[in-house]
Amino acid sequence: MERLQKVIAQAGVCSRRKAEELIQAGKVKVNGAIVKTLGTKVSGNDEISVNGHNLFKEEKVYYVINKPKGTICSVHDEKDRKTVLDYLPKGTRIYPVGRLDYDTSGVLLVTNDGNFTNMMIHPKYQLPKTYIINLQGMLSGEDIYRLKMGLKTRQEKYAPAKVSIRQKDYTRDRMIVELTIHEGKNHQVKNMMEALGHQVRRLHRSRFGFITDEGLQPGEYRRLKPVEIKKLKAMSSKEG
Ligand code: URA
Repeated sequence: MERLQKVIAQAGVCSRRKAEELIQAGKVKVNGAIVKTLGTKVSGNDEISVNGHNLFKEEKVYYVINKPKGTICSVHDEKDRKTVLDYLPKGTRIYPVGRLDYDTSGVLLVTNDGNFTNMMIHPKYQLPKTYIINLQGMLSGEDIYRLKMGLKTRQEKYAPAKVSIRQKDYTRDRMIVELTIHEGKNHQVKNMMEALGHQVRRLHRSRFGFITDEGLQPGEYRRLKPVEIKKLKAMSSKEG
């Protein structure tokens, strides 16, 4: 992480002093948002613009990967675990759009477009996300009703979810549940199930907006089509 004024100066835009003036004058944006605080720290993944011009112009890339379980979504990991970026082409400063837990698999968008990322994860524009849950225990009719109405716990209030039961295994007391939510709170699905007294055995995201894992084995990825990128942007500005 480097100080914003240093990064701007090192990019050859102007002196560090001038960069400080530009920041204070509200001419500098980081990932689409004006930053006026001197000394704000930025990393190579942040998109910085000065007077509306991007500092590092690089081709925007957009991927969907079927994240394998046992990978993390950060760019680096202090424990040296495998990151999802290990599966993607090197060279551009790409990063995941939001996060899936280490043990969660499924649809994850990856890009170097900071504005796109903000649109996809901003609480105001949350797109629907569908999860397949392998659950220990069975959801009761009342659990399903609570999920559909918007589950309230002592700590959290969740927006209404769509729920459908895919499979019931009475002998092992397990269920496969498909759950669609619009929010992206930390460990949301696991916390929702835990609040209902059940443990998530496996979690897979099968859909983000209309982007699915179809045709992608764990670890496989493809580039998003221009029409898909356009549609995701349009959807995110209409949702919420
Ligand atoms: N909810 C969770 O609990 N974990 C994830 O990885 C995604 C949603």
